[in-house]
Amino acid sequence: MGSSQAWKNRTAVISGGSAGLGKALALRLAQEAANLVIIGRDPDRLKDVQEQALKLGACSVCSLSVDARKLVDGLPESETLRDVLAVQGCDLLINAVGKSDRGFIEQLTQEDLVSQFELNVLTSHAMTKFCWSALCQSRGVVVNIASLAGIVPGPGMGGYSMAKHALVGLHRQWRLESQSSGVHFLLVAPGPIARDDSADRYAELVKARQLDPNSQNPGGGVSLHRIDPVELSRQILRAAQERKPELIVPGKVRMLAMLMAIWPSLADKIIRKKMKRS
Ligand SMILES: NC(=O)c1ccc[n+]([C@@H]2O[C@H](COP(=O)([O-])OP(=O)(O)OC[C@H]3O[C@@H](n4cnc5c(N)ncnc54)[C@H](OP(=O)(O)O)[C@@H]3O)[C@@H](O)[C@H]2O)c1
Repeated sequence: MGSSQAWKNRTAVISGGSAGLGKALALRLAQEAANLVIIGRDPDRLKDVQEQALKLGACSVCSLSVDARKLVDGLPESETLRDVLAVQGCDLLINAVGKSDRGFIEQLTQEDLVSQFELNVLTSHAMTKFCWSALCQSRGVVVNIASLAGIVPGPGMGGYSMAKHALVGLHRQWRLESQSSGVHFLLVAPGPIARDDSADRYAELVKARQLDPNSQNPGGGVSLHRIDPVELSRQILRAAQERKPELIVPGKVRMLAMLMAIWPSLADKIIRKKMKRS
């Protein structure tokens, strides 16, 4: 499917834009001739996505090697990002930093929970605050990448479901509080995304915590179709352009979230069946 030019010459800041879904979004925006600011830690991965984006037609690409957990006033990395935003502005912020987990709640330490919270929630808060004045000037869009595990629980997914539920709370509160700013908030809650390394991504954790080997698969082994990241990127950018409030993929999970509110025991039963756990 051909790309639209909705983001042509506009500036998109993508935290976690050097791999996975963030990278797919960056490359899609490159095809639309956007200006890109890509944030990640590994400089080699950043260089690789920068080169690919320029080849695909990005108007400009700036890559910043920054730990998004350390975006605090006064730190050199934070000042570099501020300088870039002052020149480039920001029409679209995509908070894609985040990572899933594996384990049962009783196995987790407080450090495990704090680490999940830092990566999946606080990075989004810090990035949005850093881009806020630029976003207000452009009446731009903030896209928070949550997960289905942020709207319904994912048993055996360690601290991930807690963290993504907190991200959804952060997102919805910010959306309510900022109506007069003109900044739009889009929440994205996807199911498991197809990727090449999915077979061994959580293998060590699953072994160390003696979990069912099936739980190392995307989505903790949930029986849901794997989403194509390129198609998902197209849907996300379209929803951002159309200023939709939420994108849940697959959409039928919205019904499960409603059921969780009105009939929790039935919702639990359905989730256990989908996760193939007792
Ligand atoms: N994969 C799935 O099946 C799935 C499903 C639903 C939702 N999601 C959500 O989608 C988002 C992307 O997931 P993914 O699996 O595609 O991710 P991924 O492949 O692991 O990529 C994560 C990106 O974030 C960057 N990153 C990680 N920690 C960072 C930090 N502290 N500071 C700056 N950058 C950091 C990584 O680069 P460096 O490591 O070089 O820093 C990389 O660019 C996440 O929020 C995830 O929870 C994923």
